[in-house]
Amino acid sequence: MESFPVINMEKLNGEDRGATMELIKEACEYWGFFELLNHGISHELMDKVERLTKEHYKKCMEQRFKELVASKSLEGIQAEIKDMDWESTFYVRHLPTSNMSEIPDLDDDYRKTMKEFVVGLEKLAEELLDLLCENLGLEKGYLKNALYGSKGPTFGTKVSNYPPCPHPELIKGLRAHTDAGGIILLFQDDRVSGLQLLKDGQWVDVPPMKHSIVINLGDQLEVITNGKYKSVMHRVVAQTDGNRMSIASFYNPGSDAVIYPAPSLVAKSKEDQAAVNADDQQIQLEYPKFVFEDYMKLYAGLKFQAKEPRFEAMKTRGDPIATA
Ligand SMILES: [Fe+2]
Repeated sequence: MESFPVINMEKLNGEDRGATMELIKEACEYWGFFELLNHGISHELMDKVERLTKEHYKKCMEQRFKELVASKSLEGIQAEIKDMDWESTFYVRHLPTSNMSEIPDLDDDYRKTMKEFVVGLEKLAEELLDLLCENLGLEKGYLKNALYGSKGPTFGTKVSNYPPCPHPELIKGLRAHTDAGGIILLFQDDRVSGLQLLKDGQWVDVPPMKHSIVINLGDQLEVITNGKYKSVMHRVVAQTDGNRMSIASFYNPGSDAVIYPAPSLVAKSKEDQAAVNADDQQIQLEYPKFVFEDYMKLYAGLKFQAKEPRFEAMKTRGDPIATA
C-alpha cells in the first residue's frame, strides 16, 4: 500500500467486503492511520459541527489565543520553541460521565450538536474495534472488553484550532507524539492541512478530505495486539495561511482497565517466530501488563518522547492485578 489508505466503509456491505477488510488490515499493520469515507455520520451533522466550532473559535477563543501569543512574545521568535505548541484547544469528556454542561462558553446548539456527533463517533469506534478483532482473529467484543475496566471506556474530545503562524519552522502546531489510548477518530479541516505521520523515517501528509474521519491507533492497542498493530508518531505543522480545525475524539480504556497483550496474539507471534529461520528473527518487543491510569500518569510527563521507554517503565510497576 503505497499511498495513504482511504477506506470506503459502504463497501463492507457488499461483495467487496473481503477486499475492504484486507485494506483495513494493511492500514493497521503498515500505517497505523487510515481515512474513512461513508462512515455513517451524516454530512449535514459534520457541516454543522464544523460551522459551530469555527464560530465558537472566533467568538470565544481567538482573542485569548492572540493574548497568549503576545504574552509569550511568540510573534517574533527567532529560535526553535520546544516546549509549546501553536494551538488553541478545549477538551470535553463524554464517558464514563459527560462534563459537556460544565464547559464554559458553549451555547446550547453547539452542546446539542456535539453530543449528537460524539454519539455517532462512539458507535463508529466500537464498530471499528470489532472489525479489528475480525482481522486479528480475536472474538467479537474482545477489544471493547479489553478497554472496558469497571465503568466502561473513557471517551473525550479535544477541539483544536491551529491559527496561521508566522514561524512554522520554529514552532510546531503540535509536537510529534504517539497517542496514549485506544482508537482515535479525527474530524479535520478539509482545506487547511498540517497533520503528518512518521512512516519509514519520513513525514507523510494525512490528506484533507471532505467529510472523512481519520483513524489512528494508540499505545494501548499496540500493547493489546502485542505489537501486531503499532501506534505511530504524528505531528501538526503550523501553516502560514488559514486556520486549521481539528476535532479529535479519543476512545480510551477505563481508568482501572488492566491492559496486557491478548494471549492468543502472544502465542501466534511465538509460533511465527519459531517458523522463521533463527538468523532472520527480529527482536520482538515484550509488552507489559498495567493499569491504564498508571500509564496515563507516566504519559502526562513524557507525551513528546518515544513510547518504548514508557512501555519499559510500566514493566517495573509490579503485578497490576495484585496492586489494582
Ligand atoms: Fe495525537
